[in-house]
Amino acid sequence: MPKDIERTLITGQQIARRVAELAEQIARTYEGMDQNRLTLVPILSGSMIFAADLIRQLPMKMKIGLMAVSSYPGMSVTSRGPKLRQQLDVNVAGRHVLVVDDILDTGQTLGLVLEELGARKPASLRTCVLLRKAGRAPQGFVPDFVGFDIEDVFVVGYGLDYNDRYRSEPDIGVLRAGIWRPRQAACTTS
Ligand code: XMP
Repeated sequence: MPKDIERTLITGQQIARRVAELAEQIARTYEGMDQNRLTLVPILSGSMIFAADLIRQLPMKMKIGLMAVSSYPGMSVTSRGPKLRQQLDVNVAGRHVLVVDDILDTGQTLGLVLEELGARKPASLRTCVLLRKAGRAPQGFVPDFVGFDIEDVFVVGYGLDYNDRYRSEPDIGVLRAGIWRPRQAACTTS
């Protein structure tokens, strides 16, 4: 285990099992709808690995549209507010849109994305997140599909990074204290 990772939170095997379950759930949800009109929107770059694994388990036809949002620049573990880095590159009017993100924390990122996409008049707009941090998003902000509920810690691995590191770790782990600090005393490390 890399030295900055304090402990494993979710193993690669657990992730694989849960991704398969999510894919089944998603496939069932869209079964009765016009499947020719599904567009998946992975939010770059943290969700790349999750989205790739999910897509491989989804049996239906789909377009992919990409959006990039950043909120944790460089060596930061506290969000500085989401910034839209890349606008959606496909037309989603009249289509069923499923936004795929790595982690729901305060909900600001998904809030921004849903506002942007909602304005484009999709037929439906749903969200799928691999991880949801306990008690951070506003009440009533409920993603349609959630992989794992986790405690309020800074996590890395499986596409999630700290200062561009650990994306390729197969497990999701907790960044060691000292690099990550509990929220009350939170500050950036840069
Ligand atoms: P918000 O607060 O907008 O945060 O819901 C969502 C985005 O922030 C990033 N994020 C993290 N990235 N480990 C990371 O590597 C974390 O523990 C973490 N928490 C939030 C992530 O990009 C997510 O899309």
